[in-house]
Amino acid sequence: MHERQPSRTALGAAGYRAAHQQLEGGRVFSDPLAHTILGDGADAIIAGLSAGPAQQGMRLFMAARSRFAEDCLGVAVSRGVRQAVVLGAGYDTFALRNPYSELGLRVFEVDHPATQAWKRKRLSEVGLAIPESLVFAAIDFESDDLGHGLRDAGFDPDHPAFFIWLGVVPYLGRAAIAATLRYIASVPDSEVVFDYSEPLENYPPERRAAIVALGAYTAGIGEPWLSHFDPDEIVRELRGCGFGDIEDLGMSQIAVRYLDAPAGTLDSGPGGHVIRAARARLHR
Ligand SMILES: C[S@@+](CC[C@H](N)C(=O)[O-])C[C@H]1O[C@@H](n2cnc3c(N)ncnc32)[C@H](O)[C@@H]1O
Repeated sequence: MHERQPSRTALGAAGYRAAHQQLEGGRVFSDPLAHTILGDGADAIIAGLSAGPAQQGMRLFMAARSRFAEDCLGVAVSRGVRQAVVLGAGYDTFALRNPYSELGLRVFEVDHPATQAWKRKRLSEVGLAIPESLVFAAIDFESDDLGHGLRDAGFDPDHPAFFIWLGVVPYLGRAAIAATLRYIASVPDSEVVFDYSEPLENYPPERRAAIVALGAYTAGIGEPWLSHFDPDEIVRELRGCGFGDIEDLGMSQIAVRYLDAPAGTLDSGPGGHVIRAARARLHR
């Protein structure tokens, strides 16, 4: 990311969620604030993300990863977790909708300082109030210490926490990813949901050009993809950090779980994955 420039891919991700509300009625993921947070430019952004099957696939993936993350967070809250951390939050609206604030769920939004400043300005422009349960922490994953930054913001590393880390891993170097996972694993009873993409060489030739073009686009706006993972590689990395309970959904599993595809749907090949990892306890 550019040091002083807010993330433009964050705007794209938020735009896809807003487009999903309009085009699919929020069927996979309901986010009543997705449109509002985009401000005056919302309709133009949505229109730019509504054409063709590739954009539909991206919309549904983004909707599914948020749905999966928030469903898993709900389970964590029901077993007593009262700290949530949204890493690389961008224009994510969970903290503004926090349905568990009465139960005492605090939400820490961590983001690159430039993106976070931009979001705070946008919230005030569109009249979205910052709830008492929301705490901001401006942190650069590549150069700052996540643990120190969170502790300074009031996070208690001795109590359980649930981490949501969507749309960020591809933009970080391996060292920052490993340091972040190790930190999450150091928090007792911690759990994380994040997404990752497979290496471009995993894609069959007929799909590779489109994914290479997307990578070139994000690089062109200053947010190059730095890290991809093979599924077995990320599982090894997570186990090495101490995560024992891992659930990885590829595109086929996402289609079955959220898009009404019949069970046993053929493997749709490489693509995005959303993965949940918990320290030790079995998920229910
Ligand atoms: C594609 S956006 C995803 C935003 C949000 N999680 C979502 O799904 O809508 C990538 C996010 O990662 C953040 N990010 C990228 N590199 C970062 C870094 N080095 N430190 C902190 N945040 C970073 C950006 O500021 C941005 O918010």
